[in-house]
Amino acid sequence: PPQKQPELTTTNPETGGPVQYYEVEIKPFTQEIYEGMPAQFTGYDGISPGPTFIVPRGTEAIVRFVNNGLNETSVHLHGSYSRAPFDGWAEDVTQPGEYKDYYYPNQQSGRMLWYHDHAMHITAQNAYRGLAGAYILHDEAEDALNLPSGYGEFDIPLILSSKQYNEDGTLFDFGTVAGAWYGDVPHVNGIPWPFMDVEPRKYRFRFLNAAISRNFGLYFTESTGDEDSKIPFHVIASDAGLLERPVETSDLRAALAERWEIVFDFTEFTGQTIDLRNVPSISNLGTEISFENMDKIMRFNVAAETSAADNSVLPETLREVPFPTPTTADPTHSFLFARTNNQWTINGVGFSDPVNRLLANVSVGTVERWELSNTSPFWSHPIHIHLIDMRIVSRSSGRVEEYETAGLKDVVWLAKDETAVVEAHYAPWAGVYMFHCHNLIHEDDDMMAAFNTTVLPE
Ligand code: C2O
Ligand code: CU
Repeated sequence: PPQKQPELTTTNPETGGPVQYYEVEIKPFTQEIYEGMPAQFTGYDGISPGPTFIVPRGTEAIVRFVNNGLNETSVHLHGSYSRAPFDGWAEDVTQPGEYKDYYYPNQQSGRMLWYHDHAMHITAQNAYRGLAGAYILHDEAEDALNLPSGYGEFDIPLILSSKQYNEDGTLFDFGTVAGAWYGDVPHVNGIPWPFMDVEPRKYRFRFLNAAISRNFGLYFTESTGDEDSKIPFHVIASDAGLLERPVETSDLRAALAERWEIVFDFTEFTGQTIDLRNVPSISNLGTEISFENMDKIMRFNVAAETSAADNSVLPETLREVPFPTPTTADPTHSFLFARTNNQWTINGVGFSDPVNRLLANVSVGTVERWELSNTSPFWSHPIHIHLIDMRIVSRSSGRVEEYETAGLKDVVWLAKDETAVVEAHYAPWAGVYMFHCHNLIHEDDDMMAAFNTTVLPE
């Protein structure tokens, strides 16, 4: 995706710090995914994924989102500790023809955030039609590490989604499905099964799973070699930025809304082709749809030589991660994510129930442990808590990946029949925020609730 440029840069009269003003127009556009057969989408600035914001830490941003699309919208900057009025509350919708100005503090450490739609009951539809984009926040300490860099050159977002098309090339409308919408055509940065020319050197790839319901199990392999011989790489960052240290793996689970950044080294693959592949069965298979070709994601053609020497490094340590002060207390809140009374609920409550949906009061500034449970033998639920970064303390299955615990997360994937305990510092703002399943079909109907950090400590 192209980089988003500010309309103007000015100074905050109170702090003296820089403020950038941006404008984004939400509008319908046409794209021929299949040649000669136009399909209709709606995107930020009329493209999907939307343009990538690249913002240095400490630069505040005001973004005017003008809704010239067909539906109501609400914009959430996922991973940002936005103040509540700018957090994309599902009912805070902007009608077609109207706009809303969002304020983002950008004082957090470097990380890949993403902006996407969050409108009540139609988030899945809006996101499927294209409303998602990357927002990269970087800081000086991270820049000084000399990781592979240069946006679009050696530092590249790979935004995953999954769609389905009709025989005439138009986008298949999934209407009102009840459990999941998987799609059978994987897209990377809006293109199905793309190819990318790379040099035999190190790259930083920033994965984002922006799909509706599909989780990915990613691995790399030589396209001409044995498919089962996976090429190892290093995970360097998660949802909340850099890990403590690079973690080597050859399998990467990317649940809905998760960001995983990796360094992949093509140095020894001069002149070869490398495939990024997927384990389709990692997602829930709630339908009889054939997922042929969902095992392939994209291909890299490695050039014979580099254009310049690769001076980037993969340091042994990346940063000191600000893990929350550990608390040994029992979980203060327990939430069950389940299907009750033909609805997706949290502790039996759906977000459409305005009286009961406030499920937790948390004193602002405190560290709490929450227990998140999924008793279904069939469904998994990737749970996102707004405002905070969390540490995964445990999973009942015992299966915790090393790359999951070397950093902080804002999404935790509850596998089938799994309970996870997560710990977070509920700060810095007082306000009412959402938490929910990020399978957007579940979120829309109605697996979402609220917590309130407005309560002051005694
Ligand atoms: Cu990525 Cu509440 O959302
Ligand atoms: Cu779910």
